[in-house]
Amino acid sequence: PNGKSSSGSRQRLVVVSNRVPVPKDGSTKAGGLAIALEGALKESGGLWFGWSGNIVGDASDKPEVVQGGKITFAVVDLTQQDYDEYYAGFANRALWPVCHYRLDLVQLERSDTDGYFRVNRAFAASLARLLQPDDIIWIHDYHFIPLAAELRKLGFNNRIGFFLHIPWPPSDVASALPAYERLLRGLGAYDVVGFHTPLDVENFQQCLVREGIGQPMGPNEYQVDGRRIRVEPFPVGIDTQAFARTAVSGEKNALVRRTKASMGDRDLIIGVDRLDYSKGIKQRIESFSCFLKSSPAFHNRVTYIQITPKSRSDVPEYKRMQHEIAEQAGWTNGNFGEVDWTPIRYVNQTVGHAALAGLYRMSQVGLVTPLRDGMNLVAKEFVAAQPPEDPGVLILSRFAGAAHELNGALLVNPYDTEACAAAITRALQMPLAERQERWITMWERLQTNTVGAWCRQFLSCLADSAAEAEEEPLE
Ligand code: F6P
Repeated sequence: PNGKSSSGSRQRLVVVSNRVPVPKDGSTKAGGLAIALEGALKESGGLWFGWSGNIVGDASDKPEVVQGGKITFAVVDLTQQDYDEYYAGFANRALWPVCHYRLDLVQLERSDTDGYFRVNRAFAASLARLLQPDDIIWIHDYHFIPLAAELRKLGFNNRIGFFLHIPWPPSDVASALPAYERLLRGLGAYDVVGFHTPLDVENFQQCLVREGIGQPMGPNEYQVDGRRIRVEPFPVGIDTQAFARTAVSGEKNALVRRTKASMGDRDLIIGVDRLDYSKGIKQRIESFSCFLKSSPAFHNRVTYIQITPKSRSDVPEYKRMQHEIAEQAGWTNGNFGEVDWTPIRYVNQTVGHAALAGLYRMSQVGLVTPLRDGMNLVAKEFVAAQPPEDPGVLILSRFAGAAHELNGALLVNPYDTEACAAAITRALQMPLAERQERWITMWERLQTNTVGAWCRQFLSCLADSAAEAEEEPLE
């Protein structure tokens, strides 16, 4: 998928992401997205570069290289200061909240901004040691916005694409970012910039135009600092068939069987999220409480399992929220629970892929209600896991990227707890024919928009942008 070089041989693909699934003991523990990227990397004997996950006293700029079959993995360490400023600071206390429309949570520290650009410069220097002139480079996510600009400064003219896995907000919100203009110009150093949804694309285009940084050249094409960039939506998918198969076999998983046995004949509502304020877990538990308050007939008839592994616990905004949510789940159970019934089973554990798929399959309702989300693959996995003869109902936030595609879901405003509570009642009472009708439209969509298709589309857009640049060079 990643084009041919001028000599006719297949060009090598280089993927860059903050976390790298380096194989341990000969195997990787990769999710659907990583498996798709690995598929593309294998075809060209590619390279996957990023952070090792280690924090060390003295970080070397020489990457550690591990061969995993046909893929080369290369990683570098961070010092404590790098980690604090680049990852825990700028990426997760400035970029993350702004991109999720949470200006109330933004923490601006000049040292974090400096650290973010410094680490990007250092990553570019490390990667430069491994790059070949014909490599096609695909950089992922908000940790690495300035990476292409740093590589260009080092003289690399390779095709470089960027995909943002989180939302991009409207210009009024985005302009609260420190180094806003520098970040926009940084994105202008790519050949292709991809987002999940047309809304993100529209927001980003608005930023380029309002700041006078990008001159429109054609549909989804801009000139930034003498370079041509394409800005397109590429909604990421899942490996739909494989996930559906995992869900079928997941029914036999020991945890799934024990959970089923513990439920009796109660209905199951499921929520699965990293513990992040963007996921709307607090509002979701409020909505569930509101549902219990307004529907006493469902008491002891339904259980809500919320699986929420802890995430970024060293970022203060996350630590605070962890306490609030635990308190709220406890309050709901104390208020509505009975001696033989716990309404919410709130767990901070990570649950394996197969067990999760099996749990989705046995659930009557999937609650996916982020306040803002780039895509949200839980929504897609929940749909893929459903048995066609008796599918569950997806309740989905209109603020998740997935809402642009999954129109068979009950779309809700996650801030409106009463409306969400009503959606829960409606989902639990929905007749089979309506459930099937809603499910089939989503299932069909998921068959075409797979993660493999997403990967091919992005790479072919990047290859086309190379051809266009050759045919029509800028003056
Ligand atoms: O959604 C953005 C993202 O960076 C994902 O790519 C990743 O799986 C998730 O957040 C986890 O974040 P972190 O790497 O900070 O634990």
